[in-house]
Amino acid sequence: QGNYTVTLIEGDGIGPEISQSVKDIFAAAKTPIEWESVDVTPQLKDGRTVIPDKAIDSVKKNYVALKGPLATPIGKGHVSLNLTLRRTFNLFANVRPCKSIAGYKTPYDNVDTVLIRENTEGEYSGIEHVVVDGVVQSIKLITKQASERVLRFAFQYAEDVGRKKVRAVHKATIMKMSDGLFLKTARDVSKDFAKVDFDAELLDNTCLKIVTDPTPYNDKVLVMPNLYGDILSDMCAGLIGGLGLTPSGNIGDECSIFEAVHGSAPDIAGKGLANPTALLLSSIMMLQHMGLNDHADRIQKAIFDTLAEGKQLTGDLGGKAKTHEYAQAIMSRL
Ligand code: IPM
Ligand code: MN
Repeated sequence: QGNYTVTLIEGDGIGPEISQSVKDIFAAAKTPIEWESVDVTPQLKDGRTVIPDKAIDSVKKNYVALKGPLATPIGKGHVSLNLTLRRTFNLFANVRPCKSIAGYKTPYDNVDTVLIRENTEGEYSGIEHVVVDGVVQSIKLITKQASERVLRFAFQYAEDVGRKKVRAVHKATIMKMSDGLFLKTARDVSKDFAKVDFDAELLDNTCLKIVTDPTPYNDKVLVMPNLYGDILSDMCAGLIGGLGLTPSGNIGDECSIFEAVHGSAPDIAGKGLANPTALLLSSIMMLQHMGLNDHADRIQKAIFDTLAEGKQLTGDLGGKAKTHEYAQAIMSRL
């Protein structure tokens, strides 16, 4: 209650434009959110990528951040800033809902699944080395602790939003030890959640089945290790129209960062052509996370109605509207 200050990381390329749409729409909807914009231009400290202290302090103070796309600087020893943020704040669960959008035609009109991805380890641990010339080893790190943490989160999430089943997606037939540990942990954790069913499925089989018929996944939460989640969440985003339409939340115990996972689109930056929907839907997740459900529902309805009507769509969705015209259409419904 009371403090609704949120850290805003506008991001690169189209980031500032799509952030502006969120700010305008939030103001029009009279949300109590106040924005604190921070600069996250990475700095190199002892060969490691670090985020400016001011930005870190802001997120720690506000507990919640909204983030536009960040371009990963190439070379100079930088690692992805996106990953640095997830690591810095220990954002262990990445939640990616995929729901069909009325008005945007894809081969499916009934997708409604939620992916939850372990967000701190797996192939993303960044432990790689040359063994001898021509031989490279990358470590896929799976710990019981991180697995249990994201699995508990997934079950709790399913219980909270009323989804019937948690399904662990894995490849324990091959990754016997690492995925085996994830799967065993999932079985153990499932015993603590009597109201939620549990089963498991092999990753390749999930891919095959969900693109054939997404319907059986509609009452489920899919939970999986990091890289599988990265790939499968893009695949599912493809089922509903792409990364321009899918929200994402990185959740930790102390703070959370909600972000659009599409790129910074430097080719159209500054031209007013960008589609702010993914950042907007991420900001809706953020409002829900902050307990501002009434505001979330109202803005979400305005977005979906605007998309369904199809008169003011941005170019990527086949329309002619500028970013601010699309935002205006949403605002006129509030
Ligand atoms: C995502 C992105 C990131 C990832 C990149 C930008 C590092 O693809 O959020 O899914 O691989 O996790
Ligand atoms: Mn990805």
